[in-house]
This record gives sequence, structure tokens and C-alpha cells, in this order.
Amino acid sequence: MEVDRSIMRETTRGFQTYYSPMLHGEIRLDTNTNVLGSNPAAERYLKESSWDLNGYPDTYSRDLRQGLADLYGLSPENLIAGNGSDEMIDVIFKTFTNWGDDSVVPVPSYSLYDYFVKCNGGRAIEVDLTDDFQLDVDAMVSRGGKVTIVPSPNNPTGNCFRQKDLEDLISRFEGIVVLDEAYSEYAGPGKSMISKVDEFDNLVVTRTFSKAYALAALRVGYMAANRKLTEMMMCVKIPYSLNAISEGAAVAALKDQDFIRRSVDMVTEQRPVLDAGLRKLGFETFPSDSNFILARAPIDHRVLVDGLRERGVLIRDFGSKRRTENCVRTTVGTAELNAILLEMTEEVLSGCR
Ligand SMILES: Cc1ncc(COP(=O)(O)O)c(C=O)c1O
Repeated sequence: MEVDRSIMRETTRGFQTYYSPMLHGEIRLDTNTNVLGSNPAAERYLKESSWDLNGYPDTYSRDLRQGLADLYGLSPENLIAGNGSDEMIDVIFKTFTNWGDDSVVPVPSYSLYDYFVKCNGGRAIEVDLTDDFQLDVDAMVSRGGKVTIVPSPNNPTGNCFRQKDLEDLISRFEGIVVLDEAYSEYAGPGKSMISKVDEFDNLVVTRTFSKAYALAALRVGYMAANRKLTEMMMCVKIPYSLNAISEGAAVAALKDQDFIRRSVDMVTEQRPVLDAGLRKLGFETFPSDSNFILARAPIDHRVLVDGLRERGVLIRDFGSKRRTENCVRTTVGTAELNAILLEMTEEVLSGCR
């Protein structure tokens, strides 16, 4: 049905609803969550706790912010927590952009950046990554805007951006630079800038409990910045947006760093195995520092993704998008899941010969 959208905010009229597959018990390698399953410390906390469901949660999630401050050597005032890092990204645009303002978004990168810019009435200015999927800092700086946002590691390409390019961008970009570190745990020590936010006037780092921390269902994200910036953003964020149950579970999860190490080690071990398996089947793979791999398929991307879905495996299709033509993205599984993925992929490919 064709609907007249003229009553919508102008910048949102072209929107479509988000990726939402019908599920029938498939193996999910399409969302880059932790394939080891739910966070065990959080599960224990949920089994052993009870809550006053009649009371509001702590307005600004003090316990979680203290736990994060201890982890990163920051002050709780450097931190804001909320309903997924998606909410944090929304708060950034709500705080720092006015109607019609430009924000710079790299291509390819996380599809919701464009959405959050436009939800807040802004214009998303696309700047292409270079051929090897690195930042074109000169182009981003010269394009300019109120905010720019870069995920490192990048989704969907998987790679980290060069540290010197990130620092160059932060020092030369006139507006706020957001570093989205949703997959940072997988990139290894030394790649994150979260502990350095006080050194910069214009840096905001966002992080999530949805990936390595295996808590996507509970929707917990956070961001760090210098205190001047967090004070402004705290006034704009919806109070109580992080519920008490999720906050408690995230605090419990933070205390079990051993689970994070095991999760990251598994990915570090399995990533080259999956990469080699995909190459052997004729895929072109791209270097990854995260828990997923972008790969260009040797057959039509739609045939591959549909064929895998029919065989009970979900991966994500990026094949119709500019710069990732005929590419798919798969989460790195356990040895067992990767073997299933490769076997099913081989079946789909041989059906095309
Ligand atoms: C790069 C990137 N940033 C942010 C998010 C959102 O994460 P959250 O679940 O914390 O909202 C995702 C989720 O896929 C992501 O890939």
C-alpha cells in the first residue's frame, strides 16, 4: 500500500523498517553477538536477584558508571549509560546537531548512522572509505560538519582504522568525533581510545554490552567523553532509559572479565580458520579485527543467503549496497558452527554449478 508520508518529519520520509528476519530456530551468524551464548555472570545475577518493580531505576545508572570508571581508569562523570549504544549515538546527535546540520558518515559503515542523523533532522554527508577500507581523513575534514562518527573496528568491513588516521581526524575535524567501539574487545589491547577521552575536547567513544559481553537482549550501552561533553549529553538523554534489571546484569557481567577473555580468544583462534575455509570455497575475504568477516561471494549474494537460510543458517546480506557489491557478512562461530556454515555454503555453491 502506497502511504502519503508528508506528515512525517521531512528527513525521515525515506526510511524503511530495520532488519527483522522471521526466525525458525536458525543458527544466527547475522548479528555478531557472542556465539558462546548468554553472559554467565549476568545469568547468575538474574536467577539470584529480585527487584522492586514498583520503583524507578537509578536515574543515571551510578553503579554501572562506577564499574566502568574502575575498568577504564576514568571518573563516573566521564561516562553515560543507556539503552544500547544505539541510544548513545542518538543522544550525541540530539545534543550536538540542529535542524539541517551536516554530519559526516563513512561508507561503508554501520547503517544506523544515517538513520540517527536524519531522525534528528540533520543531513548525512557520505564520505567513501579508501579502496582498502581505511578513512579518507582529508575528505572528511574538508567536507566538515557538526559530528562525524566512525566505527573502529568497522562494521561491516571488520577492520580497524589506522591509529594515526583516527588521531589526525580527531585533531583536524572541527566538530565532535564519535568513535564507535562496539567491537573493540576483539581488536586487542591498545586499539581503544576510551581511556584517553580526557585528552580531547571533541572525542566521544561509544561501547556496548551487546557483543563480547553477550547481553544484547538486555540493551545496555555506554559512552565516554570529557566531563564538559558528558554534562551536556546527560541533560539530553532520556532519564531512566536503562532499566534496573539490565543495569544490575551489566554490573555483574563487568566483574567476569574471564568470560570476555575466553570469548575473544575463541574468535582470535577461529577467525583465520573460517577465513581460510571461505577462501577455499572461492570467496574473496577482507581482513577483520572483529568477530565477523566480510566476504565477496563467488555466486549471487541473494542465492547464497537464501540457500543458507533454507538450510538453517542466517548470515547478513550486504551485496546490494555500494562498495560491498555481492558481499555477505558472517559472524565468526565456534569450530562447530563454522564447520556447519562452511558445509552448508559448499552445498549451496555446488547446487549452482
Ligand atoms: C558498529 C555498531 N555500532 C553500534 C551497534 C549497536 O549496538 P547496541 O546493541 O549497543 O545498540 C552495532 C550493532 O550491531 C554496531 O554494529
